[in-house]
Amino acid sequence: MDFSLSEEHQMIQQAARDFAQNELLPEVIERDDAQRFPTEQIKKLGELGFMGMMVGTEYNGSGMDTLSYVIAMEELSKIDASASVVVSVNNSLVCYGLETYGTEAQKQKYLTRLASGEIIGAFCLSEPEAGSDATSQKTTAIDKGDHYILNGTKNWITNGSSAEVYLVIAQTDREKGHRGINALIVEKGMPGFEIGPKENKLGIRGSDTHSLNFNDVEVPKENRIGEDGFGFKFAMKTLAGGRIGIAAQALGIAAGAYELALKYSKERKAFGTEISNHQAIAFKLADMHTQIEAARHMVYKAAWDKDNGHNYDLSGAMAKLYASQVAMETTVEAVQIHGGNGFVKDYHVERLMRDAKITQIYEGTSEIQKIVISRSVLKD
Ligand code: CAA
Repeated sequence: MDFSLSEEHQMIQQAARDFAQNELLPEVIERDDAQRFPTEQIKKLGELGFMGMMVGTEYNGSGMDTLSYVIAMEELSKIDASASVVVSVNNSLVCYGLETYGTEAQKQKYLTRLASGEIIGAFCLSEPEAGSDATSQKTTAIDKGDHYILNGTKNWITNGSSAEVYLVIAQTDREKGHRGINALIVEKGMPGFEIGPKENKLGIRGSDTHSLNFNDVEVPKENRIGEDGFGFKFAMKTLAGGRIGIAAQALGIAAGAYELALKYSKERKAFGTEISNHQAIAFKLADMHTQIEAARHMVYKAAWDKDNGHNYDLSGAMAKLYASQVAMETTVEAVQIHGGNGFVKDYHVERLMRDAKITQIYEGTSEIQKIVISRSVLKD
C-alpha cells in the first residue's frame, strides 16, 4: 500500500493551490457578502481543465482520475467553497452523468461544452416536497411521442441561474413509482422554463441557488438520458460519485480552517506566550489534525474505489458523513481559537464555519448517508 501522491497528483494539487491563492482568495469575502457568483474564476478554471476533470479528452475533458479531482476539490475548498461547489456539480453530477449514461449525440452537443467550461450545468432532483425523499417526484414529464411535456418546480438548485444545461428528474408514469421516472436534458431558454428568485443563504453565498419552474416545457425525446424509466437510478448512481466530491469539499473546508487556526495560534499571544503554547489550544489542534487526516484517508479511499471499478456507494457515503462532521467541528474550533477575531469576517474562519454546514445537507443529508451505510452493512 502506497500512501504517497504521484508526481502528477502533486502537480494537480499545486496548480489548484496556486489558483485558490491567486484567483479565489482576492475578493472571496466581498463575493460572500454580496452573494456574487465567481464568474471570471469559473471561466479560468474551465480554461485550466478543472471543469471536466474526469471527462475523456475526446469530449474536451482532462482525462484525469477521481483522485485528481478530490485533490483539486480539497485545495479549492480551503479558500472558496462557493466556487468549489460549482466545480463539483459540473464535474461529478453533470459531466459524469452525461459521459456515463448519455448518447453520443448528447455528448457531442452538451458534454463537449460542459467539460471545457464553456458552459456550466445544473442537476435538478430536489423539489419543495421531495428533498431526502427523492422518489416522491411531483414534477411530471408526460410522454407525447417524440417529446415530453415538463411541468413542476425544482428547489435549491446549485448553478440555478448561471447554468445553460439542466439535468431534470421528473415522473413520467406514476403507477410505476421510481421506475417511471426519467432524466431529461433541459436547455436554458426553452419556452416555459423560468428561473425563480435566488436564495439568500447562510453559507456558500457566492454560488447561485434558485428554484426553477417548468410550465409546459417541450423537451425532445432525444434529450432523455438512458432508457425510459432510468431517471431515478441515474440520479442515485450519479449522486454516489457526487458525494465523493462533496466529501472532498468538506475536507477542504476543514483543512482550510485548521491551517488558519494553526498559523494564528503561533502568532497570537496571551498570558505572556503564543496561544499554541497553552494546552487548551494545542489539544484542539491535535484533535483537528487527527480528524482531518482520517477524513482525507476516507475521501481518497472512496476516490480509489471509483477509479478501480469497485462499488463506491458505501465508501462515498461514509466519506461524506465523516468529512462533513469534521468540517463542522473543525470550523467551530477554528473560530474558537481565533477568539473575538474569529467572529470577524476578515479572518475567514467564520465564513468557513458557515460554509461547512451545507456539506451535512446537500447531495444527501447526514441522515441519508446513514440510511445508505446501514442498508449496505446490514445486507451483508
Ligand atoms: N445505485 C443504483 N441504484 C440505486 C442506488 C444506487 N446508489 N440507490 C438506490 N437505487 C435504486 C434501488 O435499487 C431501487 O431500485 P429497484 O427497486 O429497481 O431495485 C430504487 O433506486 C429506489 O431505491 P430505494 O428503494 O432504496 O428508495 P428509497 O425511497 O428508500 O430512497 C434514498 C433511497 C437513498 C433515501 C434516496 O431517496 C436518496 O438518496 N435520497 C437523498 C437525495 C439526495 O441526495 N438529494 C440531493 C439533491 S442533489 C444536490 O444536492 C446537488 C446540488 O445542487 C449540490
